[in-house]
Amino acid sequence: MRVTVSVPGKVSLFGEHAVVYGEPALVAAIGKRLTVSVEGRSDRLIKISAMDLQVPGVVLTFSEESPELIVETDYGKIVGAVGYVRKAIEIASECLGKRGGVNVTIRSEMPVGAGLGTSAAVAVGTVAAYALLMEEELPLGEIARLAHQTELAVQGLASPMDTSVATYGGVLYIRPSAQQTIEKLPITCPLPMVVGYSEREFRTSDLVKKVRALREAYPDIVSPTLQSIGRISERAKCALAFGDLDSLGMLMNINHGLLDSLGVSSKSLNDMVYSARFAGAIGSKMTGGGGGGCMIALCPDREVEVSTAIRIVGGVPFRATVSEQGLKVESIDR
Ligand code: MEV
Repeated sequence: MRVTVSVPGKVSLFGEHAVVYGEPALVAAIGKRLTVSVEGRSDRLIKISAMDLQVPGVVLTFSEESPELIVETDYGKIVGAVGYVRKAIEIASECLGKRGGVNVTIRSEMPVGAGLGTSAAVAVGTVAAYALLMEEELPLGEIARLAHQTELAVQGLASPMDTSVATYGGVLYIRPSAQQTIEKLPITCPLPMVVGYSEREFRTSDLVKKVRALREAYPDIVSPTLQSIGRISERAKCALAFGDLDSLGMLMNINHGLLDSLGVSSKSLNDMVYSARFAGAIGSKMTGGGGGGCMIALCPDREVEVSTAIRIVGGVPFRATVSEQGLKVESIDR
C-alpha cells in the first residue's frame, strides 16, 4: 500500500518567538507544498528519500537495531528534516500501538529549513501518512498534537504554531497559553506578499535557545519585548478583520524591529526587509526562526518592484498567497 499526503508551507505574519512564551501569533499557510509518500516494507526498516529539496536528493536508511544514521551526507538541512520523519514515525507508532517498516519519500516545492515551516510540514505529513498506512484515520487535532510532540522532541522548545497551520491551512490566530486557542480566521482581503529567501546559517532551535538565553539574562527588558510582540498580533488580528492593509504593514515593520532587537534577524534579512520597503512594500519583516532564511513583504501592486529589490540585495524572491488548504490526502494506492 502507498499513501501520499501533501502539506502547506507557512509564513508567520506576526508573533514568532513570542509565541513560544504563550503570546498570540498570526500565521498563514501558503500555496507552496511539501509531499510525503509512505509505502509499507516487509521488514522493520525506515528508508527515507528526500528529493527536490532545493539540493540534490539523498537516500538514508535507519534500522531499529542500530539507531544511528546508516548513510551520512553533507547536507545538514536534509539530515535535520530526516530527524523529524524518524521521530514522527516513532511517536505515531506509540500512539497507534502499531509499528511497521516503511519507505518514506519527501518532496518539497520550497527550500527546506528556511523558516517556511518545512520541519512542521514533514512532521504533520509523516504522522498523517503513516497512520493511514497502518489503516488508522486520526482526527486532524490528533495529527497536529502528535506532530507538535515530534517538534518538541527534536527541537526541545516549540510552539504549536507551525504544526497547526500545516494541519489546518488558512490564517490562524494561535494563543498557546494555559487555555490554548487556535482560531481559523476568515480571509477578508487578499494579502499579496513576496517572500525573500536567503541562505540560512542557523536552525530554528538555535534561535529559540538564543532568545531564551537573552530572556534569562535580561528578563526585565526581554519579557516586555515579547509581550509587545503579542500585543502586535492582537492588533493585527483586528486590522485583518477590517482588511486594513496599511495597519498590517505598519505592525509588520514594528514586529521586525522587535525581532531584530532580540538578535534573531541577520544582515541578509535586514537588507531584504529594508530594500522591500524602499521599493514600495507597505510593510516587511523577517518570518520564522530567523538567522537568515525568509522575510515577507506586504506589497499590493508592487510585487514586481519588490521582487527586483530583493534580488538586487542577493535574495531569491517568490510570490506567496494565502492557501486555505491544510493537510490533504492525495492518494491511497492499495
Ligand atoms: C518558527 O517558525 C517559529 C518560532 O516561533 C518557533 C516556534 O514557534 O516553535 C521561532
